[in-house]
Amino acid sequence: MKILIFGSGYVGLVTAACLAELGNDVICCDIDKGKIDQLKKGIVPFFEPGLQDLITKGMHKKKISFTVEAASAVSDREIIFIAVGTPQKENGEADLSYVRAVAEDLGKNLKNYTIIVNKSTVPVGTGRLVAEIIKKKYAGDFDIVSNPEFLSEGRALYDFMNPERIVIGSNSRHSVKKMNKLFESFSCPIVNTKIETAEMIKYASNAFLATKISFVNEIANICEKVGADISEVTYAMGLDSRIGNKFLNAGIGYGGSCFPKDVKALNHIAARNEYDFKLLKSVIRVNNDQRKLVLTKTENMLGDLKEKRICIWGLSYKPDTDDTRESAAIDIIKLFHEKGVTISTYDPKVDYDKLEKEGEFVNKIIFHKDKYKALENCHLLIIATEWDEFKQADLKKIKLNLLEANIIDGRNIFNIEIMLENGFNYLSFGR
Ligand SMILES: NC(=O)c1ccc[n+]([C@@H]2O[C@H](COP(=O)([O-])OP(=O)(O)OC[C@H]3O[C@@H](n4cnc5c(N)ncnc54)[C@H](O)[C@@H]3O)[C@@H](O)[C@H]2O)c1
Repeated sequence: MKILIFGSGYVGLVTAACLAELGNDVICCDIDKGKIDQLKKGIVPFFEPGLQDLITKGMHKKKISFTVEAASAVSDREIIFIAVGTPQKENGEADLSYVRAVAEDLGKNLKNYTIIVNKSTVPVGTGRLVAEIIKKKYAGDFDIVSNPEFLSEGRALYDFMNPERIVIGSNSRHSVKKMNKLFESFSCPIVNTKIETAEMIKYASNAFLATKISFVNEIANICEKVGADISEVTYAMGLDSRIGNKFLNAGIGYGGSCFPKDVKALNHIAARNEYDFKLLKSVIRVNNDQRKLVLTKTENMLGDLKEKRICIWGLSYKPDTDDTRESAAIDIIKLFHEKGVTISTYDPKVDYDKLEKEGEFVNKIIFHKDKYKALENCHLLIIATEWDEFKQADLKKIKLNLLEANIIDGRNIFNIEIMLENGFNYLSFGR
């Protein structure tokens, strides 16, 4: 099929690469000229395992192309995906300005019947809003579909190609048929529903996963008080198929480009509809408090933090991605800066130059390309992201390079006995 995708970020590019791999002809359109120029040269401007190879393959087969020109790209397309960002506003509400801008582009440029598919995570009612904007300038026929994306960064290609379910929200039989055809090679259940229900499924799913994490963090905090071990508690909980063994890791909490903003957006939707979503408010509070717990644990370990230097391993919000949006590490660094602490840091994939351009606070961070070098002159190592290379790190080298053998393990990656045997003053979460 002839596809156009607005937005060449994590979701847009993964969708493009995978749909091209399935034999479709895909154009990617983005307003970021720098990004499109790089993509035209075959360079994926962020790290997602396997994506670079799949984009290169799609380009060689002439199945993917890139443009900033919405007007010409729209003309002959059968399906147009919207995969632009929906960041949060100050008040937690989803910012729909990018989605609106695409809808305006579509209104101006559509010429024939097209299926407009929204993949961005958007509040209930956005499908209708997009249709209204398009109709202001385009009198022809079109259909709106909601097809929320459930991929997870770090394993996005696998998730896209092996979905556990596909949700298609639409009021048009023709669009449902066409979307089912697009995804016909997948064997998972396809949930055909109304647009509003599809939009809610995405928020409910993310909010539930965030709730699982905050719940486990509260259990971990009680474990510390009563002498229980959260790792064993969650292992045994996870053996119960009603609970499942995923999203049960205690630590410094969830982050990323989705959970924090989606949980807040759902809370905002509830409030706007005069519903007090008490549980969700607690999920947010617990997650914020987990960041502060790192500070408390550090003060208990080091006393006065003035003149102290701390090393943080991991800046991305989770392993196998370079994405630092709403990352726990960044929140923790800000808390330490308020205390006058110098931060030395290492991350295997995060682009330090990009981070420096985006965040004014980073001029107080010393970035390293070698994780052991980052430890030098530091009083403490904090593990903020569970990258595999940290799990396999040389403990003797860590001890040798730190000023004092202190570790706070924000992701519970090390074995307590081994850490104590190696002479570390070691704290983790709920153990
Ligand atoms: N990243 C994830 O893991 C993930 C997973 C599922 C759903 N989502 C949702 O998918 C959406 C996109 O997320 P993302 O992480 O890919 O965002 P992103 O920030 O990585 O990419 C968004 C892209 O859209 C482009 N853009 C903005 N306005 C545009 C316009 N008018 N025309 C064309 N391009 C435009 C931006 O330049 C940017 O390149 C969000 O709603 C997000 O919540 C994200």
